[in-house]
Amino acid sequence: MRRLVLGLLASFLGVSLVAADIDMDVKIVEKLQHFSEYRFPGNNHEDSWVKARDYIEKEFSYYGLRVQKQTFNSTIWTIEDDQSVEGVNIIGVAQATNNKPSAIVVVGANYDTNTRESPGPLFNNGAGIAALLETARLFMHNVKWSGAFRQNFTTIFVAFDLNTKEHDNGPGKSGGWYFVNEWLWDYLNKSDTNFGGAFVLDSIMNVNQEPTSQDTSENFRKIFPDTFNSMAKNGNKGNFIGVVTQPDEKSKKLRDQFVGNYRKDRRRRPFRLEDMTLPRVLHQNNIISELTTQETVEFWSFQVNGTATPLPAILITDTEKLREMPESPCGNRVCPPKAWLTEEREDFMVATVEGLTGTLLRRQATRLPDSPGNSSDATSLPSLFTTVIFLLIGRFYH
Ligand SMILES: *[C@@H]1O[C@H](CO)[C@@H](O)[C@H](O)[C@H]1NC(C)=O
Ligand SMILES: *[C@@H]1O[C@H](CO)[C@@H](O)[C@H](O)[C@H]1NC(C)=O
Ligand SMILES: *[C@@H]1O[C@H](CO)[C@@H](O)[C@H](O)[C@H]1NC(C)=O
Ligand SMILES: *[C@@H]1O[C@H](CO)[C@@H](O)[C@H](O)[C@H]1NC(C)=O
Ligand SMILES: *[C@@H]1O[C@H](CO)[C@@H](O)[C@H](O)[C@H]1NC(C)=O
Repeated sequence: MRRLVLGLLASFLGVSLVAADIDMDVKIVEKLQHFSEYRFPGNNHEDSWVKARDYIEKEFSYYGLRVQKQTFNSTIWTIEDDQSVEGVNIIGVAQATNNKPSAIVVVGANYDTNTRESPGPLFNNGAGIAALLETARLFMHNVKWSGAFRQNFTTIFVAFDLNTKEHDNGPGKSGGWYFVNEWLWDYLNKSDTNFGGAFVLDSIMNVNQEPTSQDTSENFRKIFPDTFNSMAKNGNKGNFIGVVTQPDEKSKKLRDQFVGNYRKDRRRRPFRLEDMTLPRVLHQNNIISELTTQETVEFWSFQVNGTATPLPAILITDTEKLREMPESPCGNRVCPPKAWLTEEREDFMVATVEGLTGTLLRRQATRLPDSPGNSSDATSLPSLFTTVIFLLIGRFYH
């Protein structure tokens, strides 16, 4: 009897040890510090733009990704006039030896900003790029360094430059367009067979608990009736992360995987996730305009020789202008970036990183059987815990 109890207990603890192997120690604040300035070519923001780019490149290679820089020429609108600039997408590839249909996944975020005061460089899109870096770091840590997982399928991280769709009067094509049309399609050998889809992180920091801080227009109700009802039950607060998806099969699968992982730990949180799957037929209106300024639209609207060939892509967003910005914590004074970073906003971003990292690890990799010789930081705490339990049990049966 005693042996049986100990055996059961040991196997239970064994299971919890394996579960502890996913290292999810998200350090997003550290990353955010690098993205608190405006990052724009021209108007005195060029230095921080280039600095952000160098930092991303350095981080990607430090994590163990194979880094490529995709340069392209685009046109942007500055105070002076239209200006031709060279943009650089930073692409970090975690290459797998074999892929299968729908295997390859992309995660992307913009690192440049426009020059508007609201919502500022931290919200748009410092938060998204910091989350991209943390997701890449945690994924690589688990598949490459900790020995906890082995990678099965190619996973690509991309920091897009120049989202001209969010600049004023931007006539030039965006970094996302160049990535999809002049890099990804070639990488995929001009076929969408092996492509599983993309996650785009754009504005993921504005969680707003003020009643009626979320857009509740008739257009919104028509496009997202379920989200609309769920919002109404919650006082129309802007307290959710939106997952905007096209209704094709690959997108729906990727969406379900992310939603499942986001909700996995069932912790009580003061915010939630809303599924915002688009209807099959769309009519242009202000809601659609707002949800097509992010790089997801470059996947959705992809064409081969003039024929629409939409690629699956999911937008993870706080819905940007469809949600009110929180009041400035500094009144009329200029606010230092740190003042905006409340604990709740940090938790909001961390939940997205954990959901995304969990999705990638479970989808793109396989957990290896646990072995004591491979214990890392993540397992040392539970082992200590195990020892204590066994000591207690020993005393109990003495
Ligand atoms: C961008 O334009 C500059 C100046 O015309 C040129 O030197 C450079 O090679 C171009 N870059 C690309 C990637 O086409
Ligand atoms: C640790 O894991 C690696 C695989 O990542 C494996 O090759 C190695 O044999 C393991 N070491 C021990 C002591 O089990
Ligand atoms: C993933 O890789 C592991 C380890 O190499 C292998 O055992 C497993 O069969 C692979 N899974 C898939 C779905 O290919
Ligand atoms: C593209 O083709 C090359 C050469 O045949 C192959 O090695 C590579 O795996 C293919 N890439 C994808 C994404 O299928
Ligand atoms: C698109 O056009 C190029 C050259 O114009 C051609 O080589 C290619 O086969 C075409 N692709 C398709 C899918 O029709």
